[in-house]
Amino acid sequence: MTEMQPARTCLAIVLAAGEGTRMKSARPKVLHEVAGRSLLGHVLAAVTTAGADALAVVIGPDRPDVAAEVRKHAPHAAVFIQSERKGTAHAVLAARESLAGKHDDVLVAFADTPLVRPETFADLRKALHGGVGVAALGFEAKDPAGYGRFVTQDGALHAIVEHKDADEATRRITLCNAGLMALNGHKALAILDAIGCANAQNEYYLTDAVAVARAQGLKTVARVAPEAEVQGVNDRVQLAAVEADFQRRKRLEAMLAGATLIAPETVFFSHDTVIGRDVLIEPNVVFGPGVKVADNAVIHAFSHLEGASVGSSASIGPYARLRPGAELAKGARVGNFVEIKAAAIGEGAKVNHLTYIGDAEIGANANIGAGTITCNYDGFVKSRTIIGEGAFVGSNSALVAPVTIGAGAYVGSGSVITRDVKPDALAVARGRQMEREGWASAFRAAAQARKARQ
Ligand code: UD1
Ligand code: MG
Repeated sequence: MTEMQPARTCLAIVLAAGEGTRMKSARPKVLHEVAGRSLLGHVLAAVTTAGADALAVVIGPDRPDVAAEVRKHAPHAAVFIQSERKGTAHAVLAARESLAGKHDDVLVAFADTPLVRPETFADLRKALHGGVGVAALGFEAKDPAGYGRFVTQDGALHAIVEHKDADEATRRITLCNAGLMALNGHKALAILDAIGCANAQNEYYLTDAVAVARAQGLKTVARVAPEAEVQGVNDRVQLAAVEADFQRRKRLEAMLAGATLIAPETVFFSHDTVIGRDVLIEPNVVFGPGVKVADNAVIHAFSHLEGASVGSSASIGPYARLRPGAELAKGARVGNFVEIKAAAIGEGAKVNHLTYIGDAEIGANANIGAGTITCNYDGFVKSRTIIGEGAFVGSNSALVAPVTIGAGAYVGSGSVITRDVKPDALAVARGRQMEREGWASAFRAAAQARKARQ
């Protein structure tokens, strides 16, 4: 048969009800960020990439901020409130309405475990075939204390036993539960409803889904991921560890995709940074959210970019700052101590030294001299500066917006430009130079004579 199999539908349930008291923060734990995106945002993105076509997020009571974060990343997600913390299975069942057997696969993910790759979620889903009721994700723990243990026999997963319920022999097992699970969507409710709370913590454990599924005649399997991928965040030390691992991953991705990072450990990416081929990134560069760098561009040392797009073969820095809305065309050059905000810099244009360009458009091949400032703000509104193609703005000029410098025009150094300049004109707006021959020596002689009389 060559007929296409209909794609399996998938519901992902993300547990985000943790208070995260160990973060010592006014912010709920899952809203803390890694590479510029909340922990919750990372997990929602990963399960969506893994093919989840429906999302349910379980949050704690009185958390409009968490609900808003869900809407931001996944406007169609259903949000459920777990009003009492009675365990991970109880939390999953808060999403009972979404679980009514409509989906082929159900994925359960923890919102405080942000590094799990979409491929890993997808592999868990793939494990759900041939009568498998539950597929659980494990890892070899360096220090297994505190984790649930995988009890396996002949390669099959028989049960997950929580640390607090485990005997000595079980505690010696190092294959631990990461907490993520895939369940057969048509059996999930029957499995979850059969989970009790007769255990050391009097909680409804999601981990009991394994033993329950087996008792219901279903197969249960384990998949294994590297420990680094399934590490969770409980405090700020772990948050920093997760950030470091995420950065390592992004640096590898950029290098394997054809960018040169001279000192990769000093370059910091955002979750969404896009870097082209043959891009050179020098040491100590920081990317905030929303940056795209096209092929062959060079980012010199100590530059900071955010919400910016860098055209092919453009050159930034050293010590450049690109703020949101900075758009550099092909071959544009932005040099040291230059700040660009909400401005388009045309092809081959140069803004090389000590300059602020904000709310502006700079034409192709224009040259902006050292110390030029666009005065874009009068304390009330922002106004635009337009500079035509091939214009030449002399050093230390202030361009008081709204103002237009025509194509090919010159602005004399040190000018304060308050009116439009016609194409190909010269505008000079500064005190005219005067000179008195011999003035200095006469002044000195008179001053010396005055002093001698005193
Ligand atoms: C859980 C697993 C354990 C695993 C470990 C991995 C269970 C019973 N145990 O233990 O096997 O090794 O994770 O880190 O599943 N949550 C709720 N509501 C609740 C309880 C938990 O939403 O009532 C959420 C938490 O916010 C968190 C996740 O579920 O995101 C895990 O809960 P947590 O209390 O951290 O479980 P562990 O004891 O770490
Ligand atoms: Mg935990």
